[in-house]
Amino acid sequence: MKSVGVAILGFGTVGAGVADCLTRRRGVIASRAGVDVRLVRVADLDTETDRGVALPDGVLGADASAVIADPAVDIVVETIGGTGVAKKFMLDAIAAGKSVVTANKKLLAETGGELFDAAAAKGVDLYFGAAVGGGIPVIRAVRDALAANEFVSIAGILNGTCNYILTRMEKDGLRFDDALAEAQSHGFAEADPTLDIDGFDTAHKICILANLAFGRGTRLEDVEIKGIRGISVEEVAAAARAGGHVKLLGRAALGPDGRVEVTVRPERVPAGALLGCVEGVYNAVEIESEPAGKTVYVGKGAGRNPTASTVAADVCEIARNIARGVVRNV
Ligand code: HSE
Repeated sequence: MKSVGVAILGFGTVGAGVADCLTRRRGVIASRAGVDVRLVRVADLDTETDRGVALPDGVLGADASAVIADPAVDIVVETIGGTGVAKKFMLDAIAAGKSVVTANKKLLAETGGELFDAAAAKGVDLYFGAAVGGGIPVIRAVRDALAANEFVSIAGILNGTCNYILTRMEKDGLRFDDALAEAQSHGFAEADPTLDIDGFDTAHKICILANLAFGRGTRLEDVEIKGIRGISVEEVAAAARAGGHVKLLGRAALGPDGRVEVTVRPERVPAGALLGCVEGVYNAVEIESEPAGKTVYVGKGAGRNPTASTVAADVCEIARNIARGVVRNV
């Protein structure tokens, strides 16, 4: 059986989840992928904190550049987040001929084109399944399962923090700030939670989906964004009394002039609608495409394990590509 070496840059919540998944499920992954996927290096400036994941001696170190240069590493998983060193390390990895997996939606939405162009020029893979929808394989659905479809519209609850907040306000009468504090304590929220509550995280994700489905034409600055900051318990309760639910929705749709219109805003979703039933940290994406018609994807949109599941699936697919000597990168 072929063997492929994986490195993780960033040993935080998601990085630790990926390390745990790859090490504990190595046998299952090998049987499904037909490749032995070995975690060989993990880099983080903090090498002391216990993340509850047992790594073999010598795997964890502080020097990301040394990890990228290590010839035993074929795939680099970026779980640092943000748009600073994460981008530099991804470009360094690509330049070194390594395939890359990332869940970094902000970076992809803001400057993804540069990364994809670099990967294509170098002939390596760049996968990003966990950038949208956490544990929901919605990127895989758009790229693969619906590959023969023409897309008409995409609507989604794409931020677990906001959906958690809105659900707790509606079901339990919590005030906005208290519900946000809870979401933060569960680890769903971004380091800067304004990205969640002001709609930017949803904008990053709908932008990525729009570019996948409709072609690379949507820029973040074209998205009309309104978040849920300032929504009151009374407003949420009034929607519930009227038989609906307030949800933060990201939408992308082909307009009559052929332009893709992309919006993020709180909407009142009727109680009977599929998206109206999606509560808590769950995300959902409803896609209208032809010839498939309407398809809906639901699952946990944030959190260590759901995100790690999707990152690990990307690692498996790249490992298979490497074993077959092919590059996907489309
Ligand atoms: N802060 C994000 C959310 C994390 O709440 O959905 C997952 O992208």
